[in-house]
Amino acid sequence: MRSVFGVLLMSLLFFFCKKELKQPKEELIMYQSSEMAALMNAMYEGNMTIKNKILEGESIGDFPETYLNIHNAVLTDPADRNASFEAFSKLYIQNMQQVYTGAKDSLKENFNKTINSCIACHQTTCTGPIPRIKKLLIK
Ligand code: HEC
Repeated sequence: MRSVFGVLLMSLLFFFCKKELKQPKEELIMYQSSEMAALMNAMYEGNMTIKNKILEGESIGDFPETYLNIHNAVLTDPADRNASFEAFSKLYIQNMQQVYTGAKDSLKENFNKTINSCIACHQTTCTGPIPRIKKLLIK
């Protein structure tokens, strides 16, 4: 009798454990990052790398052409691509290109100007990531 109960308990535990293990995987499949969110995360990482290179006095390479996808990447909410978004994304790209082509002695200034244009757009569309973006600024 005892062992039957034991087996039952074991299989119940096994059942629950299996369910718990399965959950994160299902969430991963369900969570679909938009093209724009993926691009934003890539720009975040890219700019963190550039920030460190500027601080180390290393060469920053060339403007990443993939950033131009900001003009056509699909947003989570496509209605966010309005006139204001277009204006802010043009300004951001202009500033970003200036970082790569501008004078070496205004590199830090140009970089911070670019990050401030990320923040400016975010203030109008998606305020959540602003504290994170601020960490990119060079003090
Ligand atoms: C023209 C407006 C605009 C500019 C410029 C902009 N963003 Fe965004 N950002 C958005 C919008 C809108 C979203 C939401 C995207 C979505 O959910 O599809 C977003 C999302 C994000 C996210 C969250 C992504 C996620 O996983 O949900 C991060 C991080 C981010 N942006 C960082 C940046 C950084 C860093 C820059 C500058 C290098 C930048 N953004 C420039 C509008 C902008």
